[in-house]
Amino acid sequence: MAEWTTVRQLADHVGQDVRLRGWLYNKRSSGKIHFLQVRDGTGLVQCVVVKSNVSDETFAASDALTQESSLVVEGTVRQDARAPGGYEIDVRHIEPVQLAHEYPIALKEHGIDFLLDHRHLWIRVPRQRAILRIRAEIECAIQAFLDNNGFTRVDAPILTPASCEDTTELFETRYFDDTAYLTQSGQLYMEAAAMALGKVYCFGPCFRAEKSKTRRHLIEFWMVEPEMAFVEHEENLRVQEALVEHVVQSVIDRCAPELELLGRDIARLERVRAPFARMSYDDAIRWLRDHGFDIAWGDDFGSPHETALAEQFDTPVFIERYPTKLKAFYMQPDPDRPEVVLCADMLAPEGYGEIIGGSQRIHDYELLKARFEEHRLPEETYGWYLDLRRYGSVPHSGFGLGLERTIAWICGLDHVREAILFPRMLYRMAP
Ligand code: 4AD
Ligand code: MG
Repeated sequence: MAEWTTVRQLADHVGQDVRLRGWLYNKRSSGKIHFLQVRDGTGLVQCVVVKSNVSDETFAASDALTQESSLVVEGTVRQDARAPGGYEIDVRHIEPVQLAHEYPIALKEHGIDFLLDHRHLWIRVPRQRAILRIRAEIECAIQAFLDNNGFTRVDAPILTPASCEDTTELFETRYFDDTAYLTQSGQLYMEAAAMALGKVYCFGPCFRAEKSKTRRHLIEFWMVEPEMAFVEHEENLRVQEALVEHVVQSVIDRCAPELELLGRDIARLERVRAPFARMSYDDAIRWLRDHGFDIAWGDDFGSPHETALAEQFDTPVFIERYPTKLKAFYMQPDPDRPEVVLCADMLAPEGYGEIIGGSQRIHDYELLKARFEEHRLPEETYGWYLDLRRYGSVPHSGFGLGLERTIAWICGLDHVREAILFPRMLYRMAP
């Protein structure tokens, strides 16, 4: 008898006896036959228990199995084009591990609050499994791309003495006799690391105490933040589009069954090829006004604006050179037009909004010091950041890609809450 097999490996064992372990997802019975749908974390397979082929104990055990009971199955793998996944198992023996109590998530439609309350169980369904598999593939593809292109992963602290993006969105916590904040972005630390290692990135959770209750916002989300010394605006965008193309194409190559299960239109994803579309902030404002939006130069975009702008293109689109006043203190002004900065937001197609925010950073000591004074940023907390401009300062650039928004887009999800194992949202911190 072979060692343990998984559903994913069944193709390699046609005609052979195998042993699987998993959970009962669903069951149909017709007197002398039980059709058990068993999931094992790698997939779902139908196991056919015929009364005349098994012992009385096995038949009775199959009969008694409740939804989500854990079990061991032994049987022969049979190819069957009609079966979901293409294989079935003719069962010889069933060994229950635990008979599940009455399972709260019946196989029917449930309300979202009920499902989120039961997120610890909801993740067992094939759709949620597919999303989490794709998440893992996206993380893997991001790291592979960066590692193969000369980046070093360094990672940033989570507990920080000050803010990076906007002081109103900080989570405060005690740090012995002091106050600490949960990080909003590792960027400032990545700038220090880039001056030590050249090209670096961090990849971890970020926290925003935003009172936003939209399908794009999480309170705790994951971000990958590459930072590159000696790299200016134009090259920064080229790295971003190459990274996103690589991620999307890797998911298409490696997660075809998951995309299919999610009903994703793969043809749309296949068109995600560099170079991506580009539009200046100025042109974006003009385009929106021409298309009936009430917006003026200097205004930020809301999600209806982002959706409309992105709908014109098959690829994601970079919106470049926003007004200096709209963006963070560290962004490098355009040398020809200091009222705008050398930044870009990448908007995903199909209404998924901003997935990347990035910019060239101010490298000039005097200019950054002036910005600190304008923004009333205390020298004692940010002095070290200013040091980077004192000692061998160079032009440098970087960006942050939001993992859950990228997952939501690639998977075609309605809301980012399904893109993370246990979402943290404005009105939800449990389970
Ligand atoms: O545009 P943001 O705020 O940029 C930064 O934090 C920079 N310091 C990054 C950098 O240059 N290193 O955030 C970057 C991305 C957004 O484009 C979005 O995808 C994601 O992070 N993001 C969120 N995702 C989910 N929920 C939230 N509340 C998010 N806030 C930002
Ligand atoms: Mg942004």
